[in-house]
Amino acid sequence: MRFFPPTSRVTVKFVSILIALGIAVSFLLKAESVMSSNGIQLPPRIVSTPTPSPVLRPQVRTRKYSEFPHSQKAHQMACISCHKFPSDNWKKVRSADSAFPDITDYPKHDSCISCHKQQFFSGRPPAICSICHTNPGPRNSSRHPFANPREIFDRSPKGKIAESDFSVAFPHSIHVDIVTGSRPSKAGIINASFLRTVVAEESCVVCHKTLNSQGDSPDEYFSPPPKDIGDAFWLKKGTFKSSPIGHTTCFTCHNADSGMTPAPSDCATCHKLREPIIQADFDPKLAAKIGVTERVMLDAWKTRTSAGTFRHEWMSHAELSCSTCHDVSSLVTNDQNTKKVVVTSCNMCHITPTTADGGVLNYEIDQRKKNPGFQCVKCHISFGGKPIPEAHIKAVAEAGK
Ligand code: HEC
Ligand code: HEC
Ligand code: HEC
Ligand code: HEC
Ligand code: HEC
Ligand code: HEC
Ligand code: HEC
Ligand code: HEC
Ligand code: HEC
Repeated sequence: MRFFPPTSRVTVKFVSILIALGIAVSFLLKAESVMSSNGIQLPPRIVSTPTPSPVLRPQVRTRKYSEFPHSQKAHQMACISCHKFPSDNWKKVRSADSAFPDITDYPKHDSCISCHKQQFFSGRPPAICSICHTNPGPRNSSRHPFANPREIFDRSPKGKIAESDFSVAFPHSIHVDIVTGSRPSKAGIINASFLRTVVAEESCVVCHKTLNSQGDSPDEYFSPPPKDIGDAFWLKKGTFKSSPIGHTTCFTCHNADSGMTPAPSDCATCHKLREPIIQADFDPKLAAKIGVTERVMLDAWKTRTSAGTFRHEWMSHAELSCSTCHDVSSLVTNDQNTKKVVVTSCNMCHITPTTADGGVLNYEIDQRKKNPGFQCVKCHISFGGKPIPEAHIKAVAEAGK
């Protein structure tokens, strides 16, 4: 029997009213007595003019609290203490036929206020509001799209330049043969390891598709190359493979009804704080010149740590099994070192017993020996001017055996 609503609810409501009022009051107070740090009385400003005064808000303070870092020690608590699952608006964010319980909005004020009262009430508007709000004010609750779903977020000004604090931990080996539904029933009479390879490779395309495919189009290049391009590199279509950018595939199995672990609210099993990106074979200036602006493509390129020019859609590559170059059984998706494709994967075709057999690696090594300034441009962008790695010399020596 309950005569009163649960006290916690009342308290929460009361606190949020206080906060809302507090924000409004702080805005008004700011408008009335604006005192600079060196004691000079400034004329009052209209509340809705957010133009920062250089005297009142020095650069250091404007920059601080404008970006939310998950790596901050105090922020490393249970994800769910800020990200309540599912978000209130999950049915509105996606259309009715594609909506599923998901995390689609920012944490609310009560996730921050206990520690950041000061930041919530200082500044006009306080810098911290702009993490979530587009035009913060005491009566304006309009927000940037949340980072999920990316299909919407990536088109917003905030999404275009966003970088994630996380990488995903996805164990391929326990998934690749359950993600496709088309497992043959005659399993018993087929060699088990052969079956595994065939079925596993069918699954890859569920999560990895060729981005910006050339298909039947006669235009090979991503954008028109300069007329004097010669042998220099210019991005071609179908270079990159996509990876999942959200929960749509994962939550078909990992949902509250199925009971499969991890549950959708168990964020930290799938998301791990990202290590700094190791050196990649990438040049941001060249990417800008070519006109690559889409975040999914830039993210793939920025994390290419083996061969920045390798193109998946090229016919001689596309007809190979993915396992020629990728060993998913040893792939740890949140460890960049395990994602490297070894140079011996390019054997036979680009690495040959002698240069006369046509191997481009043999040719480039010869050129480099003749001319220390020679750039290796076939497989590389920024790596092409560096010293030749031992693994390359060894690969050529072994191809000759
Ligand atoms: C103290 C509150 C808080 C905690 C705890 C927290 N988050 Fe967040 N999270 C936020 C806020 C605020 C944003 C929005 C930041 C932005 O858009 O700049 C966010 C955004 C995100 C994003 C999208 C942005 C990105 O960096 O990719 C992911 C993913 C995310 N959180 C996952 C997690 C996971 C996983 C955990 C637990 C390991 C976690 N969060 C814990 C507050 C929190
Ligand atoms: C448990 C206490 C706690 C909670 C809850 C918390 N923070 Fe923090 N936050 C800290 C501490 C401690 C720091 C580091 C000291 C500082 O800069 O104030 C910090 C730093 C920050 C910074 C400054 C980063 C920088 O260096 O520029 C931002 C922005 C921030 N928090 C935003 C938020 C937001 C938004 C929320 C709610 C979604 C939140 N915090 C929740 C304790 C907390
Ligand atoms: C971590 C993200 C985040 C930060 C930081 C943040 N807000 Fe909000 N704000 C929200 C969300 C989410 C809602 C919607 C709450 C809901 O639907 O219950 C909201 C709602 C509001 C509303 C509508 C009234 C209300 O309280 O529900 C106002 C006004 C508002 N915010 C202003 C601000 C101002 C001003 C600041 C800075 C002092 C700020 N917010 C900081 C996420 C944020
Ligand atoms: C259920 C979805 C799913 C399936 C099926 C799947 N993957 Fe993945 N794969 C992922 C996710 C998630 C990542 C991590 C992506 C990231 O880091 O953003 C990943 C990462 C990768 C990477 C590393 C990408 C990089 O950024 O360097 C390779 C290579 C890869 N997968 C190959 C394969 C191959 C080959 C198959 C088939 C045998 C396969 N995957 C099947 C979801 C899947
Ligand atoms: C001939 C070798 C080769 C084959 C075959 C191959 N890949 Fe790749 N793949 C690469 C290289 C090289 C990279 C770049 C790795 C790097 O630099 O970090 C790459 C990168 C990737 C990435 C990360 C995104 C990107 O494009 O950088 C994914 C995902 C991926 N491959 C999936 C696949 C899948 C799925 C297949 C089979 C359909 C496949 N690959 C076949 C060589 C290959
Ligand atoms: C076809 C169904 C299916 C899909 C789709 C799927 N999973 Fe799983 N996943 C499973 C099953 C089954 C397990 C094993 C559960 C268990 O042992 O209780 C699992 C386990 C996991 C684990 C835990 C592994 C461990 O060591 O405990 C992680 C992490 C995970 N999945 C992440 C993902 C991510 C990320 C995606 C989307 C890219 C995804 N899964 C898509 C079925 C699926
Ligand atoms: C079963 C694994 C799984 C669980 C559980 C999970 N996620 Fe994710 N999440 C993913 C994958 C895979 C992606 C897409 C790849 C990526 O973003 O790197 C993703 C993407 C996101 C994104 C888009 C952000 C971005 O920068 O790409 C946000 C935000 C997010 N997750 C937040 C959360 C939060 C918060 C929780 C817990 C309430 C959660 N996720 C639970 C697997 C999971
Ligand atoms: C057929 C393609 C191919 C050619 C040609 C090629 N490389 Fe590489 N290179 C790779 C691959 C694949 C990797 C990543 C795997 C590895 O490190 O073995 C790599 C890695 C590298 C790295 C990074 C090594 C590290 O330790 O992280 C450097 C530097 C490099 N190559 C320089 C060169 C130079 C200089 C040349 C010209 C003499 C050259 N490469 C020619 C394919 C090639
Ligand atoms: C089965 C043979 C084969 C393998 C293995 C192979 N390639 Fe190729 N690749 C070719 C052929 C054939 C061409 C077209 C002729 C040429 O450009 O050399 C080509 C072209 C290329 C091109 C130019 C593509 C274009 O569209 O301009 C690059 C870059 C390349 N390969 C990199 C690699 C790297 C890196 C590896 C190893 C990770 C690799 N290839 C493995 C056969 C192969």
